Amino acid sequence: MPNRATTLRRRDDVLALPIRLDRAIRSQSQQVHSALRAGIIDGLLAPGLRLPSTRALAEQLGVRRNAIVAAYEALLSDGLVEARHGAGTYVAAELPAPPAAAPMAELDIRIPPRRPFALGVTLVDPVLLKRLAAASRRRIAQAVPDELGYGDPRGSLHLRPQGAHYLAANRGVRCDPSCILIVSGTQHGLRLCIDALLAPGDAVWFEDPGYFASRHTLRATGVTLVPVPVDGEGIVVTAGEKADAAAKAAYVTPSHQFPTGVAMSMARRIALLDWARRAGAYIFEDDYDSEYRFAGPPLTALAGIGAERVIYLGTFAKTLFAGLRLGYLVVPPALVARVVAARAAQDRFPPVFMQDALAELMADGVISAHMRRMRPRYRQARDVVADALARYAGDSLHLAAPAQGLHLLATLPHGAPKGAAKLIRERADIECRLLSDARIVQRGPDGFILGYSGFATHDLTGAARRLGRAAQEILSQAGRAR
Ligand SMILES: Cc1ncc(COP(=O)(O)O)c(C=O)c1O
Repeated sequence: MPNRATTLRRRDDVLALPIRLDRAIRSQSQQVHSALRAGIIDGLLAPGLRLPSTRALAEQLGVRRNAIVAAYEALLSDGLVEARHGAGTYVAAELPAPPAAAPMAELDIRIPPRRPFALGVTLVDPVLLKRLAAASRRRIAQAVPDELGYGDPRGSLHLRPQGAHYLAANRGVRCDPSCILIVSGTQHGLRLCIDALLAPGDAVWFEDPGYFASRHTLRATGVTLVPVPVDGEGIVVTAGEKADAAAKAAYVTPSHQFPTGVAMSMARRIALLDWARRAGAYIFEDDYDSEYRFAGPPLTALAGIGAERVIYLGTFAKTLFAGLRLGYLVVPPALVARVVAARAAQDRFPPVFMQDALAELMADGVISAHMRRMRPRYRQARDVVADALARYAGDSLHLAAPAQGLHLLATLPHGAPKGAAKLIRERADIECRLLSDARIVQRGPDGFILGYSGFATHDLTGAARRLGRAAQEILSQAGRAR
């Protein structure tokens, strides 16, 4: 039993003061020290109380006498007990002041369980987790000295070639592993690029609507965001040129625009690359969910057609799960030294054992098998939500069911009253981000960005039904009031 409530007894009397020995603590002296310290600090052992002799306490607790001696010594140096010559050990008459407690508000950081339609949740396969755990244990056990040092600031020598192989096979991106840097996700990769390549105040085109987390990251670096509208072909390059043709970079999600779901047309891709060449600007290509494509092959990544100006950002947050905090950058060869120098001055890379474990799973085909298993489940989740919304929302919501990815966008009709989206979300009792959260310039109707991965089908159906009904009710109430 790891915990055992133990009553302190003395030969002459019984102290009804239970202390707990935590048997999970490895050393007996620490078990005793920890239990007595807690008893004193919690006030169970009152100031001035005489503690039992070391022999008596050792007998009562069933531990070695040396353990009691060591525990009493530790309590002495904590200032929690006093030794009175020839008279034994007493709880200190005046206890040291406890450290000031942190304000409750600061401690109260609880992450509530996620509900439909939260973003960033994926199905986590327990078999895959077991394989990852086994691989990382093996990597730690078999580590050679080189793997225990600072290493190459680009990250694991095993994972980078796997990344290069994956990108060539799936995204049309041909790159040498020397141009890949392993990062702790897209946000981190973006920050690193800005540190290495841009200066505060530099203008950066940003899709509007666009990915809020990247917007926050970019703003935090001190660059100036230039909102550029998005239409059915992706970012409107001519609008960007009109707003600031001399911008130093553009952040885009060409494969699956966040949040609209539009795939950037080839004409638009070429226009964007042309602008970048003329302006000497960089393109940050966030390719966050191309692994989950439900119909036909995805268009080649921008980095596959204009490699010299494009920095490609990939993540395992969707392929596997966000808490893994692993992603990667593909940097044009001419820029690698600058990004590596910025990297060496920062954190270097995420823990090497996890990178190597992931590399092992990629090499063994475990990750691609996982994606093959998840793809139909996510497609089904998308269909379930789209069907239920079409059925219950009628004309109150316009749907853009995407050909890839893990979210869809449902927009309110033109003329919907201001604030309706918030009311509907509240009435439907769902968790989701609004289209207006993703906008820099507020224009057009609001909508709901609905993450559908990582939830049970019946929860998705129920949430979509509530959303559809709430949209109908609130819009028809507003119509009647007009
Ligand atoms: C547009 C976009 N980019 C990137 C990411 C992944 O970010 P990260 O790798 O920092 O978890 C997400 C995750 O939801 C996303 O929606």
